[in-house]
Amino acid sequence: MLDATTHATTGLGWGVIGFGWVARDYAVPGLQGAGGRLVAVADPDPAARRQASALGAAAHAEADALLADPAVQAVYVATPNHLHRAAVERAAAAGKPVLCEKPMAASLAEAEAMAEAVRAAGIRYGTAFDQRHHPAHAAIRAAVAGGAVGTVTAIRIAYACWVDAGWASDNWRADAARAGGGALMDLAPHGLDLVDYLLGEPVEEIAALTQRRVQGYAVDDGAMLLGRTGSGVLVQLHVAYNCPEALPRRQLEVLGTAGQILAERTMGQAPGGRVWRIDGRLGLRAPLPVAEAGASPFARQMAAFARWLRGEGEGDTFSLARDLHTMRLIARAYAAAGSAPCR
Ligand SMILES: NC(=O)c1ccc[n+]([C@@H]2O[C@H](COP(=O)([O-])OP(=O)(O)OC[C@H]3O[C@@H](n4cnc5c(N)ncnc54)[C@H](O)[C@@H]3O)[C@@H](O)[C@H]2O)c1
Repeated sequence: MLDATTHATTGLGWGVIGFGWVARDYAVPGLQGAGGRLVAVADPDPAARRQASALGAAAHAEADALLADPAVQAVYVATPNHLHRAAVERAAAAGKPVLCEKPMAASLAEAEAMAEAVRAAGIRYGTAFDQRHHPAHAAIRAAVAGGAVGTVTAIRIAYACWVDAGWASDNWRADAARAGGGALMDLAPHGLDLVDYLLGEPVEEIAALTQRRVQGYAVDDGAMLLGRTGSGVLVQLHVAYNCPEALPRRQLEVLGTAGQILAERTMGQAPGGRVWRIDGRLGLRAPLPVAEAGASPFARQMAAFARWLRGEGEGDTFSLARDLHTMRLIARAYAAAGSAPCR
């Protein structure tokens, strides 16, 4: 088990499996910003290993050596989606706590197998939903709980980007076998988890339509999801890989009987964006104050995970049951769309 006092004083020692875009640009700066240490990296790509070595980390082509290293106290998994399961199962077998990137896995069946391994090993597991750690979203959650919009009636989210076939040198996102789906699989988990975070209740019912409208690949490049929470809040979620980056493509609205909260450009990996409350009587718009507005969502996420490992966590910040529910919603959304994840 983790030595809680050691990492409280020296910073949590992290091993990273999959040192690509999100690990390199966001998660590692985040874990360092949270007072943690990058101990080791596992990645088959020599260029990724060179970058890890330059940061002072032990660089391995394969995860076994990383998992055998006692200085690795927690593991962050950021491989392509189809490799999450193997990495999490191996980390669980090694008794290491894991923070695994979203989506939890490339399919519901893989996510369920991961959950089995996590439960059997008795390790702590979290899916890396960084947007529940964005300072603006924390402010919105508190405002909604404080009655700023009255009775919540609906949440509308647009979370879209441009991902063409040549978006990366190896664009696994456009490959159904490795991604498990397209824009819906990649982007909708963020929105569904964020709704749960903002309201304190999950979406229960879901419907969806997908499209393959613009990009030439075999996975969906856009989807509209329609959901309802147990208490009756309606949720509309538009995700897309076919939206030009210059358009307003990251927007979150919480509507209620007394007002509306509107957030622009808060959804994403970085801090920032703008948030307003619009008064329901006069329609006046005022900025919503955001504490620690410049704090990195990834640093806050890594700090929250470290606190949880030390037994100082805030209750349900990480929840295997909730993450499995989100994977079930994604599977049901694809089924409702009448499409396999690759259509
Ligand atoms: N939370 C977020 O906002 C966010 C943002 C981007 C990506 N992600 C998620 O993070 C994961 C990685 O995405 P990315 O954009 O960084 O992809 P990427 O392609 O940039 O990086 C993936 C890395 O995994 C490595 N890899 C491949 N096989 C491996 C193996 N067997 N063992 C170890 N490493 C292996 C690759 O060499 C590459 O360096 C995905 O699951 C993605 O959905 C989350």
